[in-house]
Amino acid sequence: MPQPSALACVRCGTRYPIDHYAQDCPNCRTAGAPSNLTVVYDSQPGAGLSRSDVPRRPASLWRWDAFLPARADDAVSLGEGNTPLLPAPSLGLGDVWVKDESRNPTWSFKDRLASGALTMARRFGATVITSSSSGNAGAAAAAYAAKAGLPCVVFTFAGASPPLVAQMRAYGAMVVVVEDKADRWRFQSAGVRELGWYPTSPFFGPVVGSNPYGMEGYKTIAFEIAEAFDWEVPDWCVLPVCYGDALLGMWKGFEELKALGWIARTPRFVAAEVSGSIATAMASDAAMPPDHPRNAPSIATSIGASQGTVQALEVVRRSRGAAVAIDDDALARWVVTLGAKEGLWPEPSSVAPFAAIERLRAQGVIASDARVVALMTAGGLKDPAVIDTALPAAPLVRGGFVDVLKALRDVYGFSHG
Ligand SMILES: Cc1ncc(COP(=O)(O)O)c(C=O)c1O
Ligand SMILES: [Zn+2]
Repeated sequence: MPQPSALACVRCGTRYPIDHYAQDCPNCRTAGAPSNLTVVYDSQPGAGLSRSDVPRRPASLWRWDAFLPARADDAVSLGEGNTPLLPAPSLGLGDVWVKDESRNPTWSFKDRLASGALTMARRFGATVITSSSSGNAGAAAAAYAAKAGLPCVVFTFAGASPPLVAQMRAYGAMVVVVEDKADRWRFQSAGVRELGWYPTSPFFGPVVGSNPYGMEGYKTIAFEIAEAFDWEVPDWCVLPVCYGDALLGMWKGFEELKALGWIARTPRFVAAEVSGSIATAMASDAAMPPDHPRNAPSIATSIGASQGTVQALEVVRRSRGAAVAIDDDALARWVVTLGAKEGLWPEPSSVAPFAAIERLRAQGVIASDARVVALMTAGGLKDPAVIDTALPAAPLVRGGFVDVLKALRDVYGFSHG
């Protein structure tokens, strides 16, 4: 089994000790391109295992522990991962599949990050967990901290979606609301630097990305997709992107499978964002995505940051991918379409991939016969307000069944027979 031997800069490769997780790469920060670190192992992850040897148990992402920084027996787990990969033929987007991450324990893909981070937090002897989050990352940190028996402080914002804040509180986290988003960095870094709290999320700006051990959990999304397609990887993977943690994790996962010879090639990646920061950087040779507050504020609050990260840009560039800025009208339209046509209810951020695929297919960037996987990162109950603005209110009917039929016709345009 591989052991973490260093944390290496995503951009320049400089290696740091395995407990350097609460910092970034000083070299790249000085060079104006602050970059995250990623886990390096003492041997090739998965070495000695063959594809058919991957165990079916435990029923969590930890069945892939030969690729991860800890063993399944030592993991802080709530049964995350193993989410369905569903064909979505009714969307009119061609050969598109939905990796439905809303089936995770706290109903978002962030459980993979939280499981990885809390597992290593416990190993490093952490006494307090902390996260800054508009929602999903904080909810996941809260749940996994509870499972690990550790207190958790979550910094969130006035204006965060109420169900998400309720979720954090339900798992026993100490939730602190800030009015000015900059305060979260101030407060959280004081906790980390002065009191030794263990961060699962970014806690200083410009953001480089999240805890490197948490991001290892995202590799398993790639493993599950490759396995589900019998090791024939899709041509494209399209993700809603904020800091690009899942983008980096999935890319790394596919690269590891390729290094083992389990897959022949790796997919190209699309960053579906609201700010257009990565898209702007892609159009130049910029080392750092610019602060580019397009489409702000967006209904996609989970991916509302105005500046992309170096790690996201690196993956899009290295995979010969693309970045697309999505506006609110397209998000609202795709939330309604996914629900009505495929029986899936994503939160607004999580439909950004569908709007991106629509645009890239129309532009011929994604070929008409290409196979595409869209990552549906979280479920709609997290942030349901869009339904009230995008769909008619449910009519209150009094009287007889004839009035029901009239309401169905008037409100929904439905006539029976
Ligand atoms: C639902 C949802 N989708 C996408 C993202 C973007 O994640 P990442 O930072 O991995 O790009 C987030 C969180 O930031 C999220 O909560
Ligand atoms: Zn570096």
